[in-house]
Order: sequence, then C-alpha cells, then structure tokens
Amino acid sequence: MSGLGPIHEAFAEWSGGRNELTFKDFMRLSLYDHQAGYYGAGKASLGRNGDFFTSVSVGGLFGQLLACQAFEVWQKLGHPPVFQVIEQGGHDARLACDVLQSIDEHFPDLSSCINYTICDPYPVRLPEQDPRLRFFDSLPAAAAENAAALFICNELLDAFPVHRIRFRSDGWKELWVKWEDSAWQINERVPSKELTQAIGARIPSGAYPDGYTTELCTEIDAWMKSAAATLDKGLLLIVDYGFFSDDYYAPERTAGTLRCFSDHQADDDPLLAPGDRDITAHVDWTAVRDAGDAAGLGWIGFSDQGAYLTRLAAPLLQQAERGEKAGIGRKWIRQFQTLTHPGMMGRSFGVMAFAKDIDTTGWTGFSDIQMNLNKSL
Ligand SMILES: C[S@@+](CC[C@H](N)C(=O)[O-])C[C@H]1O[C@@H](n2cnc3c(N)ncnc32)[C@H](O)[C@@H]1O
Repeated sequence: MSGLGPIHEAFAEWSGGRNELTFKDFMRLSLYDHQAGYYGAGKASLGRNGDFFTSVSVGGLFGQLLACQAFEVWQKLGHPPVFQVIEQGGHDARLACDVLQSIDEHFPDLSSCINYTICDPYPVRLPEQDPRLRFFDSLPAAAAENAAALFICNELLDAFPVHRIRFRSDGWKELWVKWEDSAWQINERVPSKELTQAIGARIPSGAYPDGYTTELCTEIDAWMKSAAATLDKGLLLIVDYGFFSDDYYAPERTAGTLRCFSDHQADDDPLLAPGDRDITAHVDWTAVRDAGDAAGLGWIGFSDQGAYLTRLAAPLLQQAERGEKAGIGRKWIRQFQTLTHPGMMGRSFGVMAFAKDIDTTGWTGFSDIQMNLNKSL
C-alpha cells in the first residue's frame, strides 16, 4: 500500500501487512495515528473555522459556569490549600484558560490555591501558558499530582474508539475494515469471546432487524477505574452526548450513532477520508453509570446540559434580574442559549457526576432534577 498516502501506510503497519483491522482499530488509527490520525497528527480543528463546535468552542461561558462548579467542590471539601482542576481531553487548553480566568475574576480565594492539569496525548498548545497549567499525556502521569480536585471531561468519551457490530439472523457480527480492489470495504466476522460477552452484558435483548448496526465502547470500565484512581477526592464530571441503553439500543435505531464531522458537515460514512475527519459515537450513559459504580464512586446525578448549566447560572441570572451588574451582555446570552436550548446543545448533551470522598447530595447543578432522572435510569 506504499505510495497511497499516510493513512494507507499506517493501515498496512497496524494490520501487520494483513490489510484488515477491526472497525475499532480502524477508528483508533483514523483518529490517533501519529502520522495519519485526525487528532494524532494534529489535524483536528474545532470551533467556527474548524470541523465542529463543542461547548468549549462556543465561547467562554461554559468555562465560566464550570468555574462556579469548581468553587462549589472546593467549598464542599472545606477550602483545601491546594486544589486542582484535572481535565482529560483538554485539547487546546481553551476550557482551562476560560476556567482559570473566571476563577481569578470571581473567586479570588480559590484563585490563590488552584492548579489546572490537562491530560491529553495530542494537545494543541496555546502560545501563552498560565504557569498554573500543566500538561500530561496520560492519566497515570497526571495522578502523580494527586489532590483534591474537580475532574472534568467534555466530549472525551465520544472520541473513544468503538466496536461496530451488526445483527444477523444467526447472531451479532463484528465489522472489520479491509482495503480491497482499491477501496475500503466492510466485512462481517464472528466476534471474539470477549466482545460476545460485552455484547451480552451491555446490549438489551430486543427484536433487532436483520442488518441492525450499532456501536459498543469497551473502554469505559478501564477508563473509569483510572479516572477514579487519579482523583484523590472530589467530583468527577462527564459531559457528552449520549443515550441511556434502552434508547441507545432501541430496535428502531437501525444505523447506530456513529458520525463523522468535517467542515461542520456530518455524515455516517467512516470510510470516507479516514484520518482527515472526526469520527465519533454517542456515549452509553448506562455503561458510564455502571462503570462509576463498579469503580466505587458515589452517584451524584445526571442532568441534561441545559438544566445543569441553568442551575449553575441561576445566581448570575437572579442578580441580573434585580438589575445588578452580573456581566450578562448580548454575547453571554447568545452563548447561554446555544449551550442550554433544547434544540441546540441543551438536551442532546448530558452531564453525569460522581463523588469520591465528598458529599453526594446538595449539588447546585443536580438539585431537584436528580430524583426525577433517577427514575429513568
Ligand atoms: C472531541 S475532542 C474535545 C476537545 C475539548 N474537550 C472540547 O470539548 O473542546 C476530544 C479530545 O480528547 C482527546 N483524547 C482522546 N482520547 C484521549 C485519552 N485517552 N486521554 C486524553 N485525551 C484523549 C483528543 O486528543 C481530543 O483532544
């Protein structure tokens, strides 16, 4: 495959010359290969002039509200003299800068004891760095900095490589990707024993139609264990788009959740320009909740992003209502609408939170709605 380009060369190398990989490995290569991957080779571009928006790239408001969350964790822990925000998947450190700036402006007591640790193997570094900002390429390395913390990840889990599987009359098949006849082709194979077990454990039995195709992420348990081990004590906050398993694996969702993004256009064909576009799959919130439980973390709650951020913003909104200066201008309102409106990012994105050695109740972002949502879990 030499001469065809970096993605083909990487594919030949990853497959040991067999020119065939499981879809999961193909996705990992397309996203994370150092020479050819979308993130791994530094091609990822987020925001208005990039391929897709995240809540971070909408503007500084997401970071401003997460700064309120950091302050609440610090308060609940009794104002420890050293406090960290740990962010996994921090990409270009934009959220880090927004959170630190907002803490400096609004929470001076916290400002003097905060550090911000980014863990991302493929960070896009900002030219000017705050000395309180540290970069690590793996969680175990970041764990050396162990402290009371708020651990955040925004759109990390949707970037984990997933198995693609298809239902046939004789059972589930795993999709593999092959380079054949000068084109990427999909083959179906009997899944490994481990994958068969994971399918049995995670996918509700249902009347799936022939050809039903979906995704299964088998990285969540191991990731959750390492996140839990990294956090000394504090709050683990996961923000992403996803569904609980009954919805994720509903028989009507016949083509799964896999999407590719480029230049703000989305489609569901991961074989088109691999390495040059983002590939992502929704998060199975049931799997995340179970993994947190298995890792020994305390359950705090789940909320859609709109309700969660609105609750964090409530004191500012009340101040503004009283006519006090709360820093709410046109730009603020535009960002707030984008982040919270159900038709924009408010409902499709969710926030799940776990506690380690900290109170599980009374959290601003999860108050009231926790009980209602627990019912649907
Ligand atoms: C979709 S981007 C989100 C970036 C940023 N959090 C935001 O919301 O704008 C996913 C990020 O996760 C990073 N990533 C993927 N797997 C990772 C891992 N195992 N550990 C740390 N970062 C990872 C990627 O390098 C990329 O920067």
